[in-house]
Amino acid sequence: MWDIMKKKYVIAIDGPGASGKSTTAKALARKLKYIYIDTGAMYRACALCSLENSINLKDIPKLITMLENIDIKILYSEKGNKIFLNGNDVSQRIREADITKLSSEIAKIDIVRKKMVLLQREIGKNGGVIMDGRDIGTVVFPNADFKFFMIANEKTRALRRWKEAAKKGENLSLKDIEKELIWRDANDTSRKISPLKQAEDAIPVDTSNMTIDDQVEFLFKIIMRGKSA
Ligand code: CDP
Repeated sequence: MWDIMKKKYVIAIDGPGASGKSTTAKALARKLKYIYIDTGAMYRACALCSLENSINLKDIPKLITMLENIDIKILYSEKGNKIFLNGNDVSQRIREADITKLSSEIAKIDIVRKKMVLLQREIGKNGGVIMDGRDIGTVVFPNADFKFFMIANEKTRALRRWKEAAKKGENLSLKDIEKELIWRDANDTSRKISPLKQAEDAIPVDTSNMTIDDQVEFLFKIIMRGKSA
């Protein structure tokens, strides 16, 4: 165990929304004493920034200026990361429905991805990191030590999001949540740049019938075995 902590692996977890990536990554990071980076939160912060500055996503010069000045900071903590946009804690705001949709739109734009990938590589360059997203194993860290691709069926994923929303006191319909997830899967999978897809050497994990503990244990065991090559 101590050996794995010292080895400072880069662990990539990709997959669609509500497939179990972030819950698993968070718990695993706690166990391994690694840093957890939710790259989706970075695209969400970009989306919020564009909204706050009324930037039309087709207005590339304005987007360039926005990206030159954007300040995204992640405060790591075992209790959960906090994300700051230009000095403000936006951890809650970026989870709202309008930002979820806009994040998938802004994530299609080349210059946005270039900037986020640079930041992500910088954060992960010394290893000891678990990063989740859509393109971590394919683009951000193609040489990651471990790559996982998490999936789950649509009904299960929608139910997970519905339960999360209910916990926060939000009254959303299961059907609307499912529709949003399906729309975002299609949007993320069909984009030209860095689409959501499984890296050839990623280990697929279908979490439809797994508990959170099962998921964490499954990944943990593979990582503890170490790298064969
Ligand atoms: O929490 P959930 O899995 O639903 O979404 P997220 O990970 O917060 O990501 C929000 C959106 O950001 C996704 O729908 C993608 O369009 C985009 N994203 C991306 O393009 N690349 C990443 N590495 C992470 C997120």
